[in-house]
Amino acid sequence: MRVNVPLAAAAAALLITVSVRVTAQGPPVQPPTPARQQPAPAGQTPAPAQPAGGGRGRGQATFPAQQRPPGDPAVVQRGKTLYEINCRLCHGADLRGGDMGGVNLLRSQLVLNDQAGELILPVVQNGRQNPGMPVMPPFPLPPDDVKAIAEYVHSVVAQARPQGAPPPGEDVPLNIVVGDAKAGEAYFNAKCAACHSPAGDLRGIATRVPQPMQLQNLWVAGQGGFGGRGGRGGAPAAAEPAPRKPVTVAVTTSNGQRIEGRLDRIDDFYVTLTPSDGLQRTFRRSGDVPRVEITDPLDGHKKLLVQYTDKDIHDVTAYLVTLK
Ligand code: HEC
Ligand code: HEC
Repeated sequence: MRVNVPLAAAAAALLITVSVRVTAQGPPVQPPTPARQQPAPAGQTPAPAQPAGGGRGRGQATFPAQQRPPGDPAVVQRGKTLYEINCRLCHGADLRGGDMGGVNLLRSQLVLNDQAGELILPVVQNGRQNPGMPVMPPFPLPPDDVKAIAEYVHSVVAQARPQGAPPPGEDVPLNIVVGDAKAGEAYFNAKCAACHSPAGDLRGIATRVPQPMQLQNLWVAGQGGFGGRGGRGGAPAAAEPAPRKPVTVAVTTSNGQRIEGRLDRIDDFYVTLTPSDGLQRTFRRSGDVPRVEITDPLDGHKKLLVQYTDKDIHDVTAYLVTLK
């Protein structure tokens, strides 16, 4: 087993909560969300105010990100590696948004307005959890790592052609079925068989999810997110797995009252949940008060996430595509 630190950090973040979806190419519709604006961290220049719905409107012709000097190649390379480990799954190999619902970073106003990671850092460290949107989990990455990722993102943005087209060169490989199915089967038997079986719940999974990339995202995350958290307008293309068990939360107030329900939204300042009576409630958070305990049915998957090597992922996908 290989555990590397950034991956472990990412997975630790994912342990908190994750909800992803397997469609979503275009930027999703933004629901109105107060308290989304994150303050700039101490010691950083405060960010220019973001328009509400940050990053999805039409921008001006020029952006700081396109006028900045090119980053140090070593930092950019480190950032690329960190991006691949932590962000690629959701935001895509070419930053245009991945199958798991991360938004297009090439068209993000927030990214375009970012100079040196000061706007990206709070998003990465706090995550994003807005109802009706797929979740971005918080990543406890050190500021230097996030700055390196920002340098990498800016290096791609700088080459990006207009309209969020992918940067020229370096084609994104489409065939992801490059693993060893036999090794994948052995891995499956060792790590997955406690909860799944090829003849049981995963029977015909490759028929249900015919695109290997989608299938890979599905098993790595353990869910597609369809119909999960409020859903989104556009119907997903192919397979639509059954709605998942939601992430739940228990809030214990300072006077000992405990309220449990479906987690709708959480950030550093508020937690919003819907108990079984259907009446949504929001609590203001201040440090550890009230106490917040999140339960995610997919904890098993998130624990495994720290363990996968690239080879394991390739092998397991190669095995799963045989389960027609
Ligand atoms: C599990 C999927 C997932 C992962 C992993 C992920 N993101 Fe995100 N990210 C999202 C989603 C979904 C949104 C949009 C959420 C929202 O706006 O409510 C988002 C939004 C963002 C935004 C804000 C874009 C804007 O215009 O508002 C930035 C910047 C960003 N992500 C950067 C990153 C970086 C850097 C990483 C890696 C450290 C990363 N993300 C990892 C899913 C993900
Ligand atoms: C501790 C139990 C556990 C382990 C171990 C586990 N999973 Fe899962 N898996 C789940 C749960 C729970 C779900 C979500 C099922 C649901 O919500 O219907 C899930 C969902 C999935 C799905 C989506 C199924 C669907 O029908 O859409 C796939 C594919 C999957 N897991 C593959 C794997 C693979 C491959 C491994 C091993 C690398 C693995 N799982 C390990 C519990 C586990």
